[in-house]
Amino acid sequence: MPYYDDVTPGVGMMPPRSTADTDAPVLSLDGDWRFRLHPTADGGGAAFPDVDDSEWDTLSVPSHWQLRGYGAPAYTNVAYPFPIDPPHVPDENPTGEYRREFTLPDDWPSGATVLRFDGVDSCFRVWLNGTELGHATGSRLPAEFPATGLRPGRNVLAVRVHQWSAGSYLEDQDMWWLSGIFRSVTLVARPANGLPDFFVHADYDHTSGAGTLRVDTDVPARLSVPALGLDAVPTNETHHIAHVRPWSADDPFRYAGTLATEGETVAVRIGFRTVTIADGTLLVNGRPVLLRGVNRHEWHPEHGRAVPRETMLADVLLMKRHNINAVRTSHYPPHPHFLDLCDEYGLWVVDECDLETHGFLFVNWRGNPSDDPAWGPALLDRMRRMVERDKNHPSVILWSLGNESGTGRNLAAMAAWAHERDPSRPLHYEGDWNCTYTDVYSRMYHPHADVDEIGRGVEPPPEDATADAHRRTLPFVQCEYAHAMGNGPGGLSEYQDLFERYPRCAGGFVWEWIDHGIPRPDTNDYAYGGDFGEPLHDGHFIADGLVFPDRTPSPGLVEFKKVVEPVRITVDTDAVHVANHYDAVDTGHLRYEWSVSSDGVLVDFGALDVPVLAAGESADVPLPALPDAEGETWLTVRAVLAEATAWAPAGHEIAWGQAALHAPARPFPQASAQPADGRLGPGTFDGAGRLVAIGGLAVDGPRLDLWRAPTDNDEGFHGPPVADGWRAIGLHRLRHRLLSVATGATWLTVTTRVGAAATDLAFETVYHWVADGDRLGLTVDVQPVGDWYGVLPRVGVRMAVPATLGQVAWFGTGPGESYPDSRRAARVGRFALDVDRWSTRYVFPQENGHRSDVRWAQLTGNDGSGLRIDGDPVFGLTVRRWTSEDLTAARHDGELHAGDQVWLNLDAAQQGLGSASCGPGVLPEHQLRPGPVTLRLALSAIQSARGD
Ligand code: GAL
Repeated sequence: MPYYDDVTPGVGMMPPRSTADTDAPVLSLDGDWRFRLHPTADGGGAAFPDVDDSEWDTLSVPSHWQLRGYGAPAYTNVAYPFPIDPPHVPDENPTGEYRREFTLPDDWPSGATVLRFDGVDSCFRVWLNGTELGHATGSRLPAEFPATGLRPGRNVLAVRVHQWSAGSYLEDQDMWWLSGIFRSVTLVARPANGLPDFFVHADYDHTSGAGTLRVDTDVPARLSVPALGLDAVPTNETHHIAHVRPWSADDPFRYAGTLATEGETVAVRIGFRTVTIADGTLLVNGRPVLLRGVNRHEWHPEHGRAVPRETMLADVLLMKRHNINAVRTSHYPPHPHFLDLCDEYGLWVVDECDLETHGFLFVNWRGNPSDDPAWGPALLDRMRRMVERDKNHPSVILWSLGNESGTGRNLAAMAAWAHERDPSRPLHYEGDWNCTYTDVYSRMYHPHADVDEIGRGVEPPPEDATADAHRRTLPFVQCEYAHAMGNGPGGLSEYQDLFERYPRCAGGFVWEWIDHGIPRPDTNDYAYGGDFGEPLHDGHFIADGLVFPDRTPSPGLVEFKKVVEPVRITVDTDAVHVANHYDAVDTGHLRYEWSVSSDGVLVDFGALDVPVLAAGESADVPLPALPDAEGETWLTVRAVLAEATAWAPAGHEIAWGQAALHAPARPFPQASAQPADGRLGPGTFDGAGRLVAIGGLAVDGPRLDLWRAPTDNDEGFHGPPVADGWRAIGLHRLRHRLLSVATGATWLTVTTRVGAAATDLAFETVYHWVADGDRLGLTVDVQPVGDWYGVLPRVGVRMAVPATLGQVAWFGTGPGESYPDSRRAARVGRFALDVDRWSTRYVFPQENGHRSDVRWAQLTGNDGSGLRIDGDPVFGLTVRRWTSEDLTAARHDGELHAGDQVWLNLDAAQQGLGSASCGPGVLPEHQLRPGPVTLRLALSAIQSARGD
């Protein structure tokens, strides 16, 4: 059997060990390598590695060859893109041959040297100067080989990388299939009397503030940590330190030190912390932690999983700035540098093994490697390679066996080994619903009601009743929830309420951090599954992140930041309530600001004195002396960073709260004008009673609209997609039949029946117009006719204005879009935006851009003239240069083009978003059920400021 079909994890590899910041010489072998790609595993044949490569191409390492013009990316979620025939892989097995010459520096020490690969997808065989060193699988795990045959001066390294191997059966994560040497290759000198490995155990006793430090080494070594008064003390001994500053995600304090042997010195950064589980609660340093987490795949739109270091830092900074405090490294150990950043900046980490066998689901888990003894060594090897590599990171508080790999004895063996090797970290694995081998109970996409039951400890027992008693003692983690695909997720705040209410709930991780889009040549948009001609693919399910492929925060991330704010500010009419929800720190690093605005215009502001609150504390603070203000008056209180931190400047906003102090009604137009000759006040109507102009401005007057371009969640497959119901009724192809146009002394009333082909369901819609001198008042009454069922996308009117009206100003909520179940981040204020920047450009086009509770909006052109809309009291506003039908039809963003009108949706109501693209749908309180609706608007023309 060829080695790439063999389940053995590798041959020739050295025992795994911790990443180390060593003073031993290292030589990076990253950069340009010679490269050629072959369609089958035998590559260029037996002559390799000693071949003339002068005619070969050049490929940079690290990279994926599919993103450098060789072959193409392919996306599947669960399905294996090859026949399930374990451990065999197809004869079509693209194989990259890499060669690189390098010169060993003259001062390279004699003695042992190790060749280290940080990540090669999926299986590779390596030769140094023609001598084979071995082969390995485990794409996201390091592999080290003794650099046998290394010689002074010129050396030749040759590597043959196969896209498919037995290892591919263990790497069925939901992501692009991408191959090659995608992490660094390094030569590391191993000095005589060096330090092979080390294991830092740094515990914190929260009752006394003391630290216990023990560093295990296989060889005698000396530990120095000046700030702890340790100077060349022996390893393998326990040191008690009366007082230490503990490490936490909130305060990632580390003590710098060194570990030295005769031949080598390694820098260490020690974080003291203790993870425990007590009374079903997950505790770090004696305090419950609430994971405000995200699942992070490694992704860069141009480089795939060969993520540059600055991008890793960008991720960490973005997370910290958005109040995220935890990362699950779904579903493989990340590049080791990412964990350094988590240690340094402060993020709780669930480090997950490079294991997923989800595709066996399609064959009823027959032959699943998780339970087949033949695969036992391979699974255990993966766990060992992760734990040994990452064991010295204080940020790692839980180990995870992997993802969606069913259950089985090999998982149990991984868990048993990890418990033995590192009893200091609890173990996570979502697939083990009985928690036979895990220390936390984990589920994904569990609906709110089920989380509530778990929080109260009254969840139904597992199938295996014997597991029940144990499971009830465990904390609960949602390792994935709130699927961030497209527009959404909705329902975040309701989850957070549950997490905060129940000590058993340790929070969770939104799925997922980033959309894995790949830029399409010649368009301004991104490719997803199927765009590379893959015969089997899962479309845009690959675009389900809180940030867009270029790392622009999506509205979902802005909402998440607000929902998980670590300080909660509740503004009341007589006091401001401030609560500290940090896991570990007080609020001494914050300062508070208040401001008062009237009709969206700032009236006054000042500093607010709030006492420093310890973690878990709260206080009521009296309101500041407020100015008298007319109009709709809001008090906003913000908590911002008092000083710059490593991850954000001083003044960066952490939390805010808002309350209305005064909200007078805005007058609706008086019915005073008389209709005559198709005119009423400033309005001109056609024979069918449709508004065609207001003032001098041509408009396509408002008509009932019930459609929105379905979101990924509307199309969600958890239960019948609501969008299927909408299409079945024909909401995307409504027809309007005029019943009557009637006029009275001061009004014009148009009655219509709106329905779709092949159904007798309809809405009787009455448009009742009045006018004073300048303004038209419109009351739209919508009455369902027939046996309506299900939910509606929206109820409102749609109208169009000339394309020249390119600027929008509004008083309402903003600045970003919001929907009924995703609007915590929307604040009341006055905002302005160009129509061209109004829409959110989701990778897959869909409903977007809705601003809730708009009091008034103005659309104007360059000359200042335009249209004003006032709500009575409010309406939902959407503005775009294309229609909802265009948006519905588009498959990529680049297909959306400006037309000669600007389309406005003025809504009485919208359906929530939910998370049904992979999870629960819209909660009942955010569903839009068919029923009578009234929408009241005032329309007026704005004359040019210049008078032309
Ligand atoms: C989960 C899985 C993730 C991802 C997600 C859907 O079942 O663990 O890897 O596929 O669903 O986006």
